Amino acid sequence: MFPNEFTPHHFSSALLERQPKIGLVLGSGLGGFVDRMRVAETLPYRDIHGLPVSRVPGHEGVFVFGTIGDIEVVVAQGRAHLYEGFSAREVAAGVRAMAAMGIEKLILTNAAGIVNDDFQPGQWMQIADHLNLTGQSPLTGGPHFVDQTGVYSRSLRQIFRDHADRLGIPLAEGVYAWVPGPQYETPAEVRMLRVLGADAVGMSTVPEAIQARALGLKVAGFSCLTNYGAGMTAERLDHDDVLKAGREAADMLARLLEASFLA
Ligand code: HPA
Repeated sequence: MFPNEFTPHHFSSALLERQPKIGLVLGSGLGGFVDRMRVAETLPYRDIHGLPVSRVPGHEGVFVFGTIGDIEVVVAQGRAHLYEGFSAREVAAGVRAMAAMGIEKLILTNAAGIVNDDFQPGQWMQIADHLNLTGQSPLTGGPHFVDQTGVYSRSLRQIFRDHADRLGIPLAEGVYAWVPGPQYETPAEVRMLRVLGADAVGMSTVPEAIQARALGLKVAGFSCLTNYGAGMTAERLDHDDVLKAGREAADMLARLLEASFLA
């Protein structure tokens, strides 16, 4: 199997001339991030052969090209998930497409449930490492045996940490557990995740991170902690609440990324 089925020829020369060096994937409710960009062009996933198109509300699939400050970026607004029936390799297709566009850094965002009870809803957690609990990999079929020691770039993490401190943006750091979903966890599963060393839990991001590392990209990941994990409070989990919390926190991450890109 080829490491990347996408080549620059899949994209118009006008898009490639923009030369985005940074790619961003926006998670549930975080689409409002593009309001902070100067948007130049959009490209729906359905116009690129081989890209899966999600049907989950809050995940409409489109690449948005433009600038934040003076920095050229491409934003993947919307992503596909395992729980829709896509394979991990299909879920990571957007990352291979962005790599073919020429990005060097990938910033992944998601909405996640809290597992570590030191953390609070509405806060962001920078992903330091992950647990892949799905049994799936975007690298099935190759390349094999890719090192996973430093999936999330230490140097990028330090940059974001420094800027978060400077801007007074509360930024937790921890381990993200990738579960298949589509149901939320049981209280027993949340307790299990805590024992396993997870700080947050969600249904995305890890396949894209694994894929990006295999292609040599630098990766950063941010979880918007939208809710306490099941059983940690008396409340039941609701996707609309997750979307709402994401929208409210999007602005904070936009400020952090903007400051860090401009540095
Ligand atoms: N569990 C899994 N995925 C999630 C959650 C959760 O509690 N919240 C947002 N995405």
